Amino acid sequence: MAHATILVVDDEALIRWSLSERLKADGYQVLEAETGAAALDKLPEGVDLVLLDYKLPDTDGVSVLRKLKEFDPDILVILLTAYATVETAVEAMKLGAFHFANKPFNLDEVSATVERALETTRLRREVRQFRTNAARPYGLQSIVGNSAAMTALRQLVARVATSPASTVLLTGESGTGKDLVAKVIHYASERSSRAFMNITCSALPEQLLESELFGHERGAFTDARLQKRGLLESADGGTVFLDEIGEMVPALQAKLLRFLEEKAFKRVGGATDIRVDVRVIAATNRNLEEEVAKGRFRSDLFYRLNVLPIAMPALRTHPEDIPLLVEYFVDNFNTEFRKKVLGVSLAAYAVLQRYGWPGNVRELRNVVERAMLLSDGTRLEARDFATLGSTTVTADEFELPANGVNLEEIERSLVIQALKRAGGNQTRAAALLGLNRDQIRYRIEKFGLSPTTAS
Ligand SMILES: Nc1ncnc2c1ncn2[C@@H]1O[C@H](COP(=O)(O)OP(=O)(O)O)[C@@H](O)[C@H]1O
Ligand SMILES: [Mg+2]
Repeated sequence: MAHATILVVDDEALIRWSLSERLKADGYQVLEAETGAAALDKLPEGVDLVLLDYKLPDTDGVSVLRKLKEFDPDILVILLTAYATVETAVEAMKLGAFHFANKPFNLDEVSATVERALETTRLRREVRQFRTNAARPYGLQSIVGNSAAMTALRQLVARVATSPASTVLLTGESGTGKDLVAKVIHYASERSSRAFMNITCSALPEQLLESELFGHERGAFTDARLQKRGLLESADGGTVFLDEIGEMVPALQAKLLRFLEEKAFKRVGGATDIRVDVRVIAATNRNLEEEVAKGRFRSDLFYRLNVLPIAMPALRTHPEDIPLLVEYFVDNFNTEFRKKVLGVSLAAYAVLQRYGWPGNVRELRNVVERAMLLSDGTRLEARDFATLGSTTVTADEFELPANGVNLEEIERSLVIQALKRAGGNQTRAAALLGLNRDQIRYRIEKFGLSPTTAS
């Protein structure tokens, strides 16, 4: 296990020194403590394994062992003792001590025992993660939709997941499924038994985001009383999802770029490089090319992130998926709310397909959730989605500005907007404007628009 942290607890400085030197040479991070109490104080720094002297000045090894296991049942403990009686050995084993090393010990033996012990925890953690993952609903099929756009998306996601660790950039409006796709990629990849960590770049102030990502050394800043591992270290072997990357400040962008290029970083306040193997998936609802043009996002980072771009389609561009999505959510909420909704009326589907869905699939999901909570029938009807109608504007709500308008220009703009929203489908665009197909065709010709104006 690379980067494992080992805590050496012994009151004899010479023993601590010789063990530390050896373990550091083996590539581990080493912490030291002289007493049982000092050992327990070190735990929040993130300890994987403890080499524990049985005889300590303030307490005995077995009671420290008990407290260590209370703090984290996964911590491995190797008991060092010159006087292991059968009883203490049995008790220590019951409490979960991994091994004894008799004093005086042979450094090669200790080193081998440490390696074996760490390998067992890694396996144990992997098995546990595997079990929880298997129960998680993040297979490819959890990306619902049979439109050409969604079918292509699933194919791309499957290919990206099995490709090597390249960085992925997910772009798309809020609610289009970026979080979902990030998880599907992770759980469909070879990394699925390792951690999936996510962080929303806009949610934290700059300094906090930096130490969350990269970790910090003790004393790196006023509140840094203890050393702390960052997300990148915790996700070693797995995936880190950086949501809303467009909001990251330039100083951090530079640090992230260095990590992506060199696979190495320093903790805040740290001097040594830490190497980890992490796949980064970034997401944004901003147009990063525009952000680059405006000087708000580093172009080198953009190009580095954009190795595998995945553009999530807005729901209004594939309304043909709405029935399937609605059925999927109805099934989910039937289970969750113990309801028995069997279907959705055609009139209701018509309402749902006419609506523009600025909040995309998230909004659709919320609308179905609300309808199911409020309805006590076995079928969802158009009236269950009446609130969607109220977002349409009536003629009186358009008020003529003081200086008047150019009616032709406004008409042209509305036709273009409707075509865009309908993904170029003229029938649907016509419905958005209360026109029939002939009427919209006439206007498309009149304004010299391309019949498939969709972008
Ligand atoms: N194609 C899809 N199939 C099934 N559920 C989806 C799909 N796209 C989005 N969702 C669901 O919609 C909600 C919002 O998606 P999310 O991934 O959080 O969007 P984003 O991160 O782009 O804002 C989530 O509950 C997600 O599971
Ligand atoms: Mg999201």
